[in-house]
Amino acid sequence: MNTTGATPIGWTQGRALVATAAAALMIAVPCGAAEDARQLAPLPEPALATLRAEMLANLRAVHEIVSLMAAGKVQMAGEVAERELGTSAMGRNRSLPPEARPGPQMPAAMHAMGIEGHQAASRFAREAATGDRDRAFAALPAVMTSCLSCHHAYRTR
Ligand code: HEC
Repeated sequence: MNTTGATPIGWTQGRALVATAAAALMIAVPCGAAEDARQLAPLPEPALATLRAEMLANLRAVHEIVSLMAAGKVQMAGEVAERELGTSAMGRNRSLPPEARPGPQMPAAMHAMGIEGHQAASRFAREAATGDRDRAFAALPAVMTSCLSCHHAYRTR
């Protein structure tokens, strides 16, 4: 006897539900490179390795900045932003062999998005340097705009 009060789902009904869910998934999640409409940026493997390491550092930096902002440490957040993401962080790969430098091998518009990201981080850093939390918060979303624009526009494989 069913004591839970819930309507029991029979085997046939259950199977129909699973089939419906599976069909919905196939429609909702088309995968495979053929469906990826982003432009391919054909970078050589050494440049991709540099890029991946930089990207993980970018993500760590964003996390640190957001955490510091949440803790009210506005000026420190600005310092991290300038050092790790701002224009101060540009040119770090200059001493690497050319094939390991991602920037110069990117399509021009992609490279420009990267530079815009550095500039947005520096704008945030300048607002944060004032110690004014509201002004800093207002400049924070733009720090992530370039992450989004580049990732939505380009793929590397
Ligand atoms: C100019 C383009 C560009 C910008 C701007 C950019 N990314 Fe990326 N990102 C890439 C590309 C291209 C890859 C894929 C690299 C590869 O092929 O492995 C990537 C990969 C990543 C990855 C995955 C790394 C891994 O583990 O393989 C993370 C995380 C990431 N980006 C975070 C960020 C964050 C956070 C920002 C902004 C602060 C950002 N990216 C801005 C182009 C960009």
